[in-house]
Amino acid sequence: MKMNSKQSISLAIALVVIMLFTAACGNSASTGGQGGNNQQPASNASNNGGGDAPTQSADDKVVLGFSQVGAESGWRTANTDSIKASAEEWGFELKFSDAQQKQENQIKAIRSFIQQKVDVIAFSPVVESGWDTVLQEAKDAGIPVILTDRAVDSEDTSYYESFIGSDFVEEGRKAGRWLVEQYADATEPVNIVELQGTTGSAPAIDRKQGLEEAIQDNPNLQIIASQTGDFTRAKGKEVMQSFLQAHDDIDVLYAHNDDMGLGAIQAIEAAGLVPGEDIKIITVDAVKDGMIAASEGKINFIVECNPLLGPQLMQAVEDVLAGKEIDKRIVTEETTFTSEEAKAALPDRKY
Ligand code: AHR
Repeated sequence: MKMNSKQSISLAIALVVIMLFTAACGNSASTGGQGGNNQQPASNASNNGGGDAPTQSADDKVVLGFSQVGAESGWRTANTDSIKASAEEWGFELKFSDAQQKQENQIKAIRSFIQQKVDVIAFSPVVESGWDTVLQEAKDAGIPVILTDRAVDSEDTSYYESFIGSDFVEEGRKAGRWLVEQYADATEPVNIVELQGTTGSAPAIDRKQGLEEAIQDNPNLQIIASQTGDFTRAKGKEVMQSFLQAHDDIDVLYAHNDDMGLGAIQAIEAAGLVPGEDIKIITVDAVKDGMIAASEGKINFIVECNPLLGPQLMQAVEDVLAGKEIDKRIVTEETTFTSEEAKAALPDRKY
């Protein structure tokens, strides 16, 4: 078909319009893609070094993998609640795994977090040793690690960004100083039995060391028996029963946590003795049940160990992902309670 010049001009204009429209569509598609990437927090972009796939959840939340020790004590429950509530408050997606007090379960959980390319891994190590291999794997994957509550004994501290938690040695010293003060005038031997936490765990090692340091210049203060109660009430009761069968002259019980102390109180009462009087009791944690027993005079002295680590952990996650330097060691502030102080503090106790 032959076109006149007017028709040719119209066709040319139509073609130009179509070409411009097609180009615009192409551009807008690619701009849309970049816009999507731009919505990622800078932190995640920097965390994806090495060209890995994006590490965010579908709704662009920061993903935190957390491996918890277990649910062995009231302290642990309060700690888990604090971490879950704080993750929600910060708007992070929390992948939570309970290791049931087994290191192998924690290693499996950490490997699974690495596979899932979470943004940050945090964990409270069941025991101190044996973490180098899996921590190296996290490091190779470019995923920052934060320790909470308990430490690892790795010589290479570049495996983790920070360790947030209590000074367990100082907790043991506080218990020891109270003992020294209480028995300052003792002329006879003071027989102490010790319920240790989980064998190989940082709090069990450090709380023992702290107490021993504090009492070492007082030869009257003697630890006559020391055994693990695994931080649980049931084991605390069982081991205290065996202590009572083996020794009829126990003056003091030092339990590395409230739960073991509370289990031991049941054994002491079943043996016809009065806890807090016939046997003086020192525990660590200051959770609600421990504070109630202290206010009733069954526990004489509690060294506080603060489980509310959630807010500090979430802040550290945010800072690490933002590329900020954070302190390698963040120590939790804590106090101590005599029976009288426990009674006064109990109404406001949150956990
Ligand atoms: O690591 C902290 C300790 O672990 C707490 O004192 C104890 O109760 C818990 O199980």
